[in-house]
Amino acid sequence: MSVSDTLCILRHEHASLDILFRRHQEMLVSHAWARAARLLTRYQERLTVHIRLEEKFLLPYCNNDGSGSSPRWGSHVYRTEHRKLEELVRAVIVRLTSARRRGVTPAMLIDLLDKERTLKHVVQHHHEREEKGLFTELHERLPLETRMELSKELLRVP
Ligand SMILES: [Fe+2]
Ligand SMILES: [Fe+2]
Repeated sequence: MSVSDTLCILRHEHASLDILFRRHQEMLVSHAWARAARLLTRYQERLTVHIRLEEKFLLPYCNNDGSGSSPRWGSHVYRTEHRKLEELVRAVIVRLTSARRRGVTPAMLIDLLDKERTLKHVVQHHHEREEKGLFTELHERLPLETRMELSKELLRVP
């Protein structure tokens, strides 16, 4: 698998995550609470795997090592956004679980969708940053063995 293919899969995962989240929201507005909750849990699982792979294989190569051009954003920027994303996903899961337990009212649904709008905004911003910065810069920096290991892990993702 070439470096472009590897980074292309990660880029493609951004699009798949967005589709999954949209399906979750479609279930919410259809009042299919159990399906909405399952899709949200799946979203959390897939996002967690995606973040783990980026942090393990890509972020070690995005700091200024003195050779070549310096990266647009350092690894701490991506890591901080990852923690924020994880926290926001956890918060919407807690909110949905609690609303289901009490019986979802229109007001609860509006509050949940507002919270999810914030999450979507942060996700979109983060994906754009990675696609402009991380993925583009690592095209030339990622060592062959790291790329091979990442490719193997990506092929294992269901
Ligand atoms: Fe990321
Ligand atoms: Fe990503």
